[in-house]
Amino acid sequence: MRIMDKERALVTGASSGIGMEIAKILASQNCDLVICARRKNELEKLSKKLTEKYNIDCEVIVADLTTEQGINSVIQKVDEVDILVNNAGFGILGNHTEMQSERQLQMIDLNIHALTKLTHEFSNRMVKKGGGKIMNVASIAAYISGPGFAVYCATKAYVLSYSRALHKELENRGVTVTALCPGYVVTGFQEVAGMKLSRMEKLSAVPANKVANIAIKSMRKGRREVMPGIVNKPLPLVTRITPMWLQLIIVNQILK
Ligand SMILES: NC(=O)c1ccc[n+]([C@@H]2O[C@H](COP(=O)([O-])OP(=O)(O)OC[C@H]3O[C@@H](n4cnc5c(N)ncnc54)[C@H](OP(=O)(O)O)[C@@H]3O)[C@@H](O)[C@H]2O)c1
Repeated sequence: MRIMDKERALVTGASSGIGMEIAKILASQNCDLVICARRKNELEKLSKKLTEKYNIDCEVIVADLTTEQGINSVIQKVDEVDILVNNAGFGILGNHTEMQSERQLQMIDLNIHALTKLTHEFSNRMVKKGGGKIMNVASIAAYISGPGFAVYCATKAYVLSYSRALHKELENRGVTVTALCPGYVVTGFQEVAGMKLSRMEKLSAVPANKVANIAIKSMRKGRREVMPGIVNKPLPLVTRITPMWLQLIIVNQILK
């Protein structure tokens, strides 16, 4: 049975990587969880581990969030949450015109459509009950236009812009919105994206548990946005002062 004064969080994309680490930290903070992704086994294993270790309630929802049915199943199965973490997302590396459009459009369905629909639904419920916290996982890719990563960078630019605006809209209604903008994190992301990190990129990568830790601290403080990793911090300034033609050449070289 749910204890009503306990916090409850919905974490999408909790079957691996950053989402799994976020779920673990929230569980260690005595938060009941609803974890969602497509891989049932991984979710059930995590749920069992967290339930036993922290004596929390951890509900599993298996859903493909690129589909309307998947998103609606989450909306219907979950009533109230205090925390929403929109983390599920993926990218695919390659030239836009040369790749099939279907998978690229699914990226928009997951990274933008599902995130927006879940935020809309749960922010309304949070406002009604007088408070809540939302974390939307963007990326440092939000700051750049990425030849070879065009749709992914554009989806993350959307997530950052949208989250900043909602942070302001909701600030006097008890709901905070935090955008998380990680740089390289070694997770399942690279395999899905068809990306091989160089030695330098691996060295600059921040471990997923550290990213999750920083993200949760920032979310709890109600920060508007957070970028873990000292090497990533200059990026917003660099992109403001570097002409776009030069940015495109540099990013093109890096992503080749
Ligand atoms: N890793 C990085 O370098 C990096 C950097 C910046 C931002 N990010 C962002 O961080 C977030 C988490 O990525 P990650 O690095 O932790 O990668 P990951 O290990 O591949 O995790 C992605 C998560 O999203 C879930 N997911 C993917 N497609 C889904 C779908 N159709 N429906 C429901 N869930 C789905 C996956 O679960 P299932 O496969 O079980 O469905 C998995 O739990 C993403 O939004 C990503 O864009 C990552």
